[in-house]
Amino acid sequence: MRITFCQGVLAVAIAINLLILFYISRLQQRVLHRHRDHPHPSAHQPRGLLRSGVTVLIREFEDFENYVPDVVRLFVKHKPELPVVVAADRLPYPPMVLPSTPNIQVVVLKPSPDQPAHISRPETYVKTEYVALVPDGVRVDSASQLERMLEEFKASQAQVQMVAAPVQSLAPLQCLNLKVNLKEWTADYTAAPPSSKVCAALKGEAVVLLRTRDLFNLSMPLAKPLLTSLFIQASLRGWVVRLLDVSFSALHQPLLTSSHNQWKADNLAKANRLQLFRDFGIKRVVLEDGKEQWFGCSKETPRCFGTIRDDTPEYLYQNRWTPPCCLRALRETAKYVIGILEASGVRYWLEGGTLLGAARHQDIIPWDYDVDLGVYLEDIPNCELLRSADSGSIVDEKGFVWEKAIEGDFYRVQYSERNHLHVDLWPFYPKNGVMTKDTWMDHRQDIEFPEHFLKPLVPIPFAGFLAMAPNDYWSFLELKFGEGVVENPEYPNPAVKSMEKGK
Ligand SMILES: *[C@@H]1O[C@H](CO)[C@@H](O)[C@H](O)[C@H]1NC(C)=O
Repeated sequence: MRITFCQGVLAVAIAINLLILFYISRLQQRVLHRHRDHPHPSAHQPRGLLRSGVTVLIREFEDFENYVPDVVRLFVKHKPELPVVVAADRLPYPPMVLPSTPNIQVVVLKPSPDQPAHISRPETYVKTEYVALVPDGVRVDSASQLERMLEEFKASQAQVQMVAAPVQSLAPLQCLNLKVNLKEWTADYTAAPPSSKVCAALKGEAVVLLRTRDLFNLSMPLAKPLLTSLFIQASLRGWVVRLLDVSFSALHQPLLTSSHNQWKADNLAKANRLQLFRDFGIKRVVLEDGKEQWFGCSKETPRCFGTIRDDTPEYLYQNRWTPPCCLRALRETAKYVIGILEASGVRYWLEGGTLLGAARHQDIIPWDYDVDLGVYLEDIPNCELLRSADSGSIVDEKGFVWEKAIEGDFYRVQYSERNHLHVDLWPFYPKNGVMTKDTWMDHRQDIEFPEHFLKPLVPIPFAGFLAMAPNDYWSFLELKFGEGVVENPEYPNPAVKSMEKGK
């Protein structure tokens, strides 16, 4: 075929057009890419990159009387560009008058529904690599105090995650050991030797310096009381604090001017401490002087775990064991009930998991949720409380509740009307040398057994007293639960939650 001159020109023109179009589109794409890489000049630095230096963070002060403006003024007097962040639960009232320079900021930690979340997050405001937690009333005397803290921290960073400078006060800063065991819901403080310079926790007022990324990597970085909270979380991560020779003085001692304000502050501190231990799931605290504090259940509170499903209490799924207050209440109820059975001539023996715990370590199994006793059915009428329970539940003079269980032919003694921790009593009767009963639970261990295990009953140490157990209880337990049950602890229903899976 032949191509005319016109056709040729047209083809060339189309080709040039296409080329130009292609070129323009390439150019546009390149410009777009460049925009995407650098959307905004200020965002050129990756988020989270921190400047060198220290930010002063003030978290703990009272609204009704505080010296935060004085503390801040002194810090910036010695170093005008020093970043200072004041973190408050809600906007301080009466208003706090701070120097209005951009390096001084107040963060309100309570989120506001019309603001983005980062506005109420303190990490948004701390842009330096290190942060110094400064209590209210600290008097800084020279710029070198923070600098020396930082130098000493950098020099010992390989060994410690925090350094502390005491705030001179009437009580000297004390070094403490601290062991937190979440599985057992406990925190144990012990005094460290007086010469100790590296420890897990401190008692007293101090300026604490640490890496910003460490602080904000904690689960609750600014929970109050600040140092209590900090050291509990730190000890769970194996961190330690070094006590420095640097120290700060106080603006005045005591900080609060009236005993009424001091009383208010003490009450708030107590409430914060209670809330902190609740939030962390710590129910028993042993202080450095050996005093115990309980933050768990009592006769006046409901049992601290819900109805048991699949023999597996909810705390096992949280990889925790029975709260210590519950173990204590179970021991108390068991001792009380056994005392009454013995006094009224009812033959009983530790049953099931309760006997297993006694055989293993003379106590309730640390993840058990009730206490089981076997009793001779024919002895029931000897006990007035059990007799009365047949016709309805009764609260005895000590506040324990005795009742016939609705689930079957057995008795239950509850810790209190409010708190349903309980001891179950399972009546058995002999039949041709075999102990049997009329209601059975769907449990492997709930089976008949030869009466010779009860002839005689033998004393066994249990929960701090002596209780009665079947003779040859090792065989008794292996008969009920299977071979090796005493030596090989396992959760009650390994199919839904086993010790292995729990880690
Ligand atoms: C934050 O903490 C976790 C463990 O709690 C740790 O594995 C991680 O490395 C930490 N991140 C930083 C940036 O320190």
